[in-house]
Amino acid sequence: MLYSLFVGRDIDWATRRAAQLRRKIEHHNYQYHVLNDPEIGDQEYDRLFRELVALEEEYPELASLDSPSRRVGAEPQERFHKVKHHAPMLSLANAFDDEELRAFNKRITHLLNREEVDFVAELKIDGVAVALTYEEGVLTRGATRGNGQVGEDITTNLKTIRGIPLKLREVEARPPVMEVRGEVYLPVSAFDRINQERTATGESPFANPRNATAGALRQLDSRITASRPLAFFAYSVGYLEGMKLETQLQVLKRLKDWGIPVNAHYHHQQTIDGVIDFCLHWQGERESLDYQIDGIVVKVNRLDYQDQLGVVSRDPRWAVSYKFPSELATTRLVEIGLNVGRSGVLNPYAVLEPVQVGGVTIRTATLHNEDDIRRKDIREGDLVVVKRAGDVIPQVVGAVREKRTGKEKEFRYPKKCPVCRKAVRRRAGEAMAYCTNRHCPAQELEALKHFVSQGAMDIRGLGPQTLEKLLELNRIKDASGLYQLTRKDLAQLPNFKDKSIENLLASLEQSKSQPFERLLFALGIHHVGERIAGLIVDHFGDIDSLTRASEEDLASIEGIGPEIAGSAYAYLNERVNQLLIQRLRTAGLQVSRGKKEATGNQNLEKKTFVITGKLPIWTRPQAAEFIKQNGGKVISSISSKTDFVVVGESPGSKIKKARALKVQEISEEELKKLVN
Ligand code: IVH
Repeated sequence: MLYSLFVGRDIDWATRRAAQLRRKIEHHNYQYHVLNDPEIGDQEYDRLFRELVALEEEYPELASLDSPSRRVGAEPQERFHKVKHHAPMLSLANAFDDEELRAFNKRITHLLNREEVDFVAELKIDGVAVALTYEEGVLTRGATRGNGQVGEDITTNLKTIRGIPLKLREVEARPPVMEVRGEVYLPVSAFDRINQERTATGESPFANPRNATAGALRQLDSRITASRPLAFFAYSVGYLEGMKLETQLQVLKRLKDWGIPVNAHYHHQQTIDGVIDFCLHWQGERESLDYQIDGIVVKVNRLDYQDQLGVVSRDPRWAVSYKFPSELATTRLVEIGLNVGRSGVLNPYAVLEPVQVGGVTIRTATLHNEDDIRRKDIREGDLVVVKRAGDVIPQVVGAVREKRTGKEKEFRYPKKCPVCRKAVRRRAGEAMAYCTNRHCPAQELEALKHFVSQGAMDIRGLGPQTLEKLLELNRIKDASGLYQLTRKDLAQLPNFKDKSIENLLASLEQSKSQPFERLLFALGIHHVGERIAGLIVDHFGDIDSLTRASEEDLASIEGIGPEIAGSAYAYLNERVNQLLIQRLRTAGLQVSRGKKEATGNQNLEKKTFVITGKLPIWTRPQAAEFIKQNGGKVISSISSKTDFVVVGESPGSKIKKARALKVQEISEEELKKLVN
């Protein structure tokens, strides 16, 4: 389709256009990955990207090694070649408490014969260390740490990571040769999503984001690496030719200027007391980050001091890694329980003797699936090691087999559902077992919880207990029943007062205008996640065409395989589901793509919005949806191109920036007035 753009164009035009596209893409990469301040949305970015790829395919002579189009990955390699680092990649000595940090400070001040030394404290990103070589500003090599001297050449894989610039920005003189060190990581949100997808498709989940990152970087087929949203933070320059930098602070600033992402949370500290405060601060705040950190790296700021202090064996004397308290603990696994999920999936979990892990008491931990339990040979009564990694659900790592008494019990999956006692089935090739009863009360409740959840219909004020109560009182049988609820019904619920009733009714009303793909996702069809629901709606447009579709029609959609198609088809052709959809439709929910656009006028066209704080009536996704329906654009961070910032209660740091940039502030109320 894009080729038609190039008809009648000559190579001179194509050369100019390719250069322009590369410049634009690089600019937007920088805005997004380095400055954390995107100016355009994903779609617009993808458009630029796809045009460049198409152009380079049409005119192969335009392809260049540093073109951003290289990021899609290349033909599989047979193996990775070994490469020697320009200078050894060191490891770090650890400090486990403030005493050890003070001892570190004492050692250094003594060796340097000074009263005080200033430090830079940085987050220690829990990812995979890599070294990037830039020659004349162009990324020519990327390698793993390996044994510190020799690593593996994973250049092709690293080039797929959008945050790693293929070319340095030309703001400062660029060194003839430079080796940058840093950490590749997978954001926690992406990790959770990938694991959800993997469990849904029967693949075993990754143990943690670092393993997922390492796995992605080890791929011989870089197209697989490209499919994982890996990111990068640089933290040092291992080797530099032709110029000299004075301090670690300068290193970090210069890297950023060259267009290389640097974590923003580093801090210059004049004393070790400041360093200790910083460490304790992040120990408490680590969960607020979308990447995992396992400590703080404390570095002597002045590079000449670093040289003077030197290296003992493999650890530099000028740096130390403050490790957060261990997040592993050992406890007794009392029994293995099963949760019935919304699709009937039986999720095994460990009931533990309560244990403290990283300052939090843990009573249960996930066990993934039957095969995982068997592989790790975990038995009821075992002493087990549990792990809490960041904000990920605690996991059972394994059993302490030496401590077995012989009384431990191997776990067998039951033949009957623990809730409704109907048959359990595990299909050949699937990792999970399912309760086969569509009307299992546990499934009904889970289905409702999913239906009202934020990513689905986003109905506020309907917690699990309320839903359970409504089912119990027979006020609702399924999701369509929610739209029949009256003030009187709600008044019977515990803790429901006038205000909460009004809010809930308003939220239900609002949810009716959620786009069709949200509704499709909210139905909870096995294998149909948000992305798949979007693909289906894009293809069929409305519920009538969708229900008429054959299994083959569904499978013909790009991105939808036979398993998903089979599952969606089966769902749509079951009588109970058809009736449910019918009732939802009658209640006024959106069942076509077209309708959504028709509801809004286009008064907000070309206007860009940022939303911050808690709004009085809408959730942020609802407000965003409203803006989009009326032709506006919603972006996540303020720039000079933002037209309005919609401000709610306790707005975040965005408001400061908005004021600095004199972006117009409006309330939810005023937003609605803009449209009408
Ligand atoms: S400095 C000698 N800074 O932690 C200097 N390392 O044991 C060594 N890491 O494998 C590296 N975040 O990959 C440094 N801000 C940071 C870091 C960091 C993570 C990793 C690094 C290395 C390990 C050090």
